[in-house]
Amino acid sequence: MTTSPNQVYPVIWHNNSVSLIDQTRLPNEYSFVEISRSEDMAEAIKTMIVRGAPAIGVAAAYGIYLGAREIETSDRTQFLDKLAKVAQLLRSTRPTAVNLFWAISKMLKTAEETLGTVEDIKHQLLQTAHAINAEDLQTCQAIGDHGLAALPTTPEKLTILTHCNAGALATAGYGTALGVVRSAWREGRLTRVFADETRPRLQGAKLTAWECVQEGIPVTVITDNMAAHCMQRGLIHAVVVGADRIAANGDTANKIGTYSLAIASKAHDIPFFVAAPLSTIDFELTDGSQIPIEERHPTEIYQIGDTILTPSGAEFYNPAFDVTPANLITAIITENGAFAPGDLAKSKIQVKFPQ
Ligand code: MRU
Repeated sequence: MTTSPNQVYPVIWHNNSVSLIDQTRLPNEYSFVEISRSEDMAEAIKTMIVRGAPAIGVAAAYGIYLGAREIETSDRTQFLDKLAKVAQLLRSTRPTAVNLFWAISKMLKTAEETLGTVEDIKHQLLQTAHAINAEDLQTCQAIGDHGLAALPTTPEKLTILTHCNAGALATAGYGTALGVVRSAWREGRLTRVFADETRPRLQGAKLTAWECVQEGIPVTVITDNMAAHCMQRGLIHAVVVGADRIAANGDTANKIGTYSLAIASKAHDIPFFVAAPLSTIDFELTDGSQIPIEERHPTEIYQIGDTILTPSGAEFYNPAFDVTPANLITAIITENGAFAPGDLAKSKIQVKFPQ
């Protein structure tokens, strides 16, 4: 099925199950996968049907509820023990994006703190999953507007380069980095997005470009190794990327290739912004060296469709993320405002969402 959605929501609660946009089929097919069991949700996260840090947090929250629903006991202790096993399965899916662990912890806390029967706990878990989904959407809209305020004031019309997909598809909707892009477009401050194709999974070419096309935002896809050249030619005014985990000192894990983009930005004096919700900041880690980096299967490198690209005998290394040191980051844009990486602790102070 290929239709054009007006709004993109990758995780939707519908008919007592979860509908996930199948991101492995975009841009050629816009279709949904129905998930009604926690094991299937774990598999969908692992296989990247749903991906992007906040979106997998939302998906895991619903995964916890689906798992809770399957537990057949009225004994609270037994229920919580079994729920811990569901949480363990979901935690084991992907290691880098901290939103996954954040959302699971929030769900377990809900279960522990809800008084009453097991049925009451199940009911409350579904409400918490809905709240995580709804709040992330609101958060992204706030990030978009704070990001707009943080962008350079000259030239009046900007071109923004982004990497991977940090859009509506990667969140509850609207996006983080693409949220900033959307807000800039809405306010007439954007001429064009440059989207790195983002090897090996091509989230930029497939997903970011798709989102921009849906919304009529002009988008130019480049291969990853063209970014520095575009900067040298004066084609890029700002870089905005998302994040999978940010350490307390501002070091930021994001899709592989982000680090080299930050180095190139520094060399060309181009501001480099990270846009992410507070749920992506892991204040327990002092710096980025402690962030676990997911390694994925080498087929992502050596195979496109049915075609094998490399000679047999070659070996592969396929880290899915890298860490950009804080000193290369101009500001981290959260729902509470934009902060210099060294000032990240201030982001915890709650401010009102912009109206
Ligand atoms: O491997 P993926 O596609 O889940 O990686 C996604 C990214 O790296 C995004 O940039 C990041 O999660 C931010 S999403 C708002």
